[in-house]
Amino acid sequence: MPSPLFEIIELFNRRQLAAPQRLMPRRSLNEHVLKSSSPVPVILATDISTKVLKKAVNGIYPLKALEKLDKSLLKRYFLKGKNSNNGIVKLKKDIVNMVTFKRLNLMDNFHFQKGFDVIFCRNVMIYFDTVTRQDIVRKFYGMINPGGCLIIGHSESLNGIQHSFNYIQPTIYRK
Ligand SMILES: C[S@@+](CC[C@H](N)C(=O)[O-])C[C@H]1O[C@@H](n2cnc3c(N)ncnc32)[C@H](O)[C@@H]1O
Repeated sequence: MPSPLFEIIELFNRRQLAAPQRLMPRRSLNEHVLKSSSPVPVILATDISTKVLKKAVNGIYPLKALEKLDKSLLKRYFLKGKNSNNGIVKLKKDIVNMVTFKRLNLMDNFHFQKGFDVIFCRNVMIYFDTVTRQDIVRKFYGMINPGGCLIIGHSESLNGIQHSFNYIQPTIYRK
């Protein structure tokens, strides 16, 4: 599902995520990317599974899987399949090109040179025990820029984990 990307676009557009101006201006994410002078990829998408990553790179989804997505977002960011591809949508190339896809095991000791303004980690930590979740959240905290956010899944929380994030609302924690 491509929902995390659209979730952040929506959050910024609706100003629900009032990030400090220095970190992320209040304009849509694609505008931010297009106007950014930074040559580095702005969005990094990771998974342990190369099969999952390949699916994400292709950006092809059954229309049914996106039925909860706002119709205007669907129109703006997806191409609708015709004839034999009826019922299928494909993410537009300019959106896919904003993203760098990379295999990553969250249990490894990974390191990135630049910090992140937002990390989405939805429905992944549910598979891990408390010690592992604690370690991953600690790594995320170190990787997030001051004022940035960690966004987790709707069925998750950081309860039972020691962390330094400020709780904003269900699923959203800010550094
Ligand atoms: C339930 S899916 C959630 C996918 C997506 N985040 C979402 O919310 O729709 C869990 C994903 O976690 C990935 N995963 C499992 N263990 C992982 C690990 N150790 N490191 C990174 N990704 C992992 C799986 O390959 C799978 O794609």
